[in-house]
Amino acid sequence: DFLKKKTNEPILEYRKGSKERIALEDELAKLSKTPIDVPLRIGSKKITNNLEKKQKISSDHANHVCRFTYATQDQIQEAIDTILSHREKWEKTPLKERAEILLRAADLAGGKYRMKLNAATMLGQGKNIVQAEIDAACELIDFFRFNAVFALELEKYEPISTKVSTNKMVYRGMEGFVAAIAPFNFTAIGGNLPTAPALMGNVALWKPSDTSVLSNYIIYELLEEAGMPPGIIAFVPSDGPTFGSTITASKHLSAINFTGSVPTFKYIWRKVAENLDKYVTFPKLIGECGGKNFHFVHPSADLQSVVTGTVRSAWEYSGQKCSACSRLYIPQSMWPKFLEETSKIHSQIKLGDVRDPSIFLSAVIDERAFDRISGYIDYAKSGKDDAKIVLGGGYDKSVGYFIQPTLITVNNPNSKLLTEEIFGPVCTAYIYKDSEVDSVLKTVKDATPYGLTGAIFSQDKNWLYKARDELRDAVGNMYLNDKSTGSVVGQQPFGGARMSGTNDKAGGPHYGLRWSSPLTIKETY
Ligand code: ALA
Repeated sequence: DFLKKKTNEPILEYRKGSKERIALEDELAKLSKTPIDVPLRIGSKKITNNLEKKQKISSDHANHVCRFTYATQDQIQEAIDTILSHREKWEKTPLKERAEILLRAADLAGGKYRMKLNAATMLGQGKNIVQAEIDAACELIDFFRFNAVFALELEKYEPISTKVSTNKMVYRGMEGFVAAIAPFNFTAIGGNLPTAPALMGNVALWKPSDTSVLSNYIIYELLEEAGMPPGIIAFVPSDGPTFGSTITASKHLSAINFTGSVPTFKYIWRKVAENLDKYVTFPKLIGECGGKNFHFVHPSADLQSVVTGTVRSAWEYSGQKCSACSRLYIPQSMWPKFLEETSKIHSQIKLGDVRDPSIFLSAVIDERAFDRISGYIDYAKSGKDDAKIVLGGGYDKSVGYFIQPTLITVNNPNSKLLTEEIFGPVCTAYIYKDSEVDSVLKTVKDATPYGLTGAIFSQDKNWLYKARDELRDAVGNMYLNDKSTGSVVGQQPFGGARMSGTNDKAGGPHYGLRWSSPLTIKETY
């Protein structure tokens, strides 16, 4: 059915008293009471000794959702050897069979596992119900289904044959193994990073983030149930540098699928460069990194769209989407009304425990994030760069890592509040003189090294398209009259330019190619 219609998974609403709401609350209660022990998974082995690590509930950090352990260097090496021993058979399995596993996984993620995945994402990663549903249910399901279908479509391409020869392209898996390094902020990305390469015939190591171990492990379990043979994907939570140095030292490293920070991605490139003479094949390095995403507002823009779009983009999930708006360029003529309307919403927004169904946002992911974000708020409080906190600015980590949704204004366009990634519920506004709109627009483009997302709001179409062309190089995903977050698989393939990543467009039709080493065969009669 999906193959024909290619529709996205519908979002469930979880209205009070609905069947799905009751089921989700049951899962949340169960998980709150009984944390889960997560093993390492290497081949058919489940390893559960020394579960000394905990994934905490960020809004209630005395409690945790799971215990886990780091794979040692030897275990990471064992995982590499194990998956490599399964590579040949898997790579020769027809794509159709591999795709069927993902299509079954999609059904399981949408059915039996939906509430479990949502509960793990809420409690473990601090998402409210809506944010969990669009990530751990809909986006994950969409990744599985669209990747499967896009890969099958790739295979349909036939090179031209002649009377004397037949030409073929075989979408071979790469020779070696793929290392998938997952972030905390999207369960769906965790699921996508190892499975997209596996779909294309590769074997993969899966290193979840310490703060998304549980949801990622639930995906591992559902893949198993969907028929993913043991030994194709190894699940190995581990210490970053140990993992990084072990995989990059292996001559069989064929690719890294990474989502995380720019410094870590640069570290990976450097490690690969150091080991370059060892490899059997040039490893492909695919990365999705940070951003300093903008909303640029023209004086003609529709105020309500700017207000709701900015509130949602900057503060939903505490600004921890890589696509979140964290710099706002707004004309002087619109600022008073914008502030008034945004203040009204701000006063109604609830920040609280992740189990409270009425919250708009919960705590930030962990103490390190809390300290970094509150540091930027303190910088604003000190008045440097003429910074003023106009909304929020409070924080408290006694029970959970709570940071109020915060809006700051600065006069200095080079302020670090406008140029550095904060990755929290903090948006910095630069109020410009209406008459200077075009010159300010020109400064936006090169204000940061990033190029992830950006939004332009204008009802003047001519100006809108001029701005679109002006900022063309500054983003991977551009939104015209809509917020900078919320890309949907198959609708807005997602990826950043410049230092935001290698822009390989997850959720797009060509993503699978990155995980293939195609073989061209000419047969002459
Ligand atoms: N796909 C996510 C978004 O667009 C990152 O918000």
